[in-house]
Amino acid sequence: MRCLPFCRNADMPQPQPSTRSNIPSFIAMDVMREAKTLAREGADIVHLEVGEPGAAPPRAVREAAIAALSGGRVAYTEALGIPALREAIARNYRERYDLAVDPARVVVTTGSSGGFVLAFLAMIEHGGRIGIPNPGYPAYRNILQALGIEAVEIETGPQSRFALSAAAIEAAHAEKKLDAVLLMSPANPTGVLTPAAEVKRIAETCARLGIWLISDEIYHGLTYEGEEASALSHSDDAVIVNSFSKYYCMTGWRVGWLVVPERLLRPIECLQQNLSISVPYLSQIAAVAAFGARDDLEAIKAGYARNRAILMENLPRLGLTPLPMDGAFYAYCGIAKYSNDSMEFSRRALREAGLAITPGLDFDRINGQGFVRLSYAGSEVDIVKAVERLKAWLG
Ligand SMILES: Cc1ncc(COP(=O)(O)O)c(C=O)c1O
Repeated sequence: MRCLPFCRNADMPQPQPSTRSNIPSFIAMDVMREAKTLAREGADIVHLEVGEPGAAPPRAVREAAIAALSGGRVAYTEALGIPALREAIARNYRERYDLAVDPARVVVTTGSSGGFVLAFLAMIEHGGRIGIPNPGYPAYRNILQALGIEAVEIETGPQSRFALSAAAIEAAHAEKKLDAVLLMSPANPTGVLTPAAEVKRIAETCARLGIWLISDEIYHGLTYEGEEASALSHSDDAVIVNSFSKYYCMTGWRVGWLVVPERLLRPIECLQQNLSISVPYLSQIAAVAAFGARDDLEAIKAGYARNRAILMENLPRLGLTPLPMDGAFYAYCGIAKYSNDSMEFSRRALREAGLAITPGLDFDRINGQGFVRLSYAGSEVDIVKAVERLKAWLG
């Protein structure tokens, strides 16, 4: 091997990665990496591990991107996003929720993931505390850990149908003061919807306690039972996080949005200018077209509804017990009949049945060993195949 001009001696001190970067992995992504490696080696894998629509985005979205690309220049945009997209997002609140939102309060972000970083930094001091639902989306607590903000996990359970409740928030705040609360509905990994009346109670509770409310509405549009409510309907001061990744099938485009109260706008603009300059131009242009493709998107959603029905019928027969599957595209299933080690169960499902699923431990470090999450955002063919494989493997 050729030696580089400067070679380290083993006894020289070496700088180390920061402790703040020492955060847990996103296990679903680890499973996906392993599943893709196995697939490259020739294994036939059914992917149920990542919450990613199997469908391509609507044709109008792709055509808008192609037209913009043909135009030549792909440039930086305003840090808060192109006006056409901010206006389209605001218009969508009027059309979908009958809410008047000033486009000036809309911030375009690099997926909702980018939105979280901006919002957390703008809202909460280093060392601050934010209540998040448990089980919940793992990146919340992992991002918060890297940012030096304490994630206070608020248990959800059968008493609230696994939804975050105003009473639980109040109890957590009474124990030790929170600076903010994160609501997610429909939820990941459970699919559970927080009822509209409870969203209202949560907004009122946060206002009374003088704490921020941040509402992750990324699965809005994907509700099969019950009525989804935006926190914006009950509070102008809530910070709304949303994305084109799920309902709009645009995961890889990395485009999402925030709706924020006025006083957060300039701090978020400065953060975005410095952290990423702007969101990819082509993705922003394409996202404008997504709002005009409702029929295509509803057809894709109808496919999820069929997948959901197949799983709701078959999972309990197999002794896998899903939590209420109100929305999103997940079945979060108890596996007590087979295992109390969701990591091992998922590893075996991949190796022995060719099924990539995510261990509950990703979403819940306390009770997650007893659960796995199956995403049904893929094709019906895949879901039928997955059920057959589960029957053969567990039967
Ligand atoms: C609840 C929730 N929020 C946020 C995200 C991040 O999505 P994106 O950054 O693609 O918008 C996900 C992704 O799975 C999610 O499930």
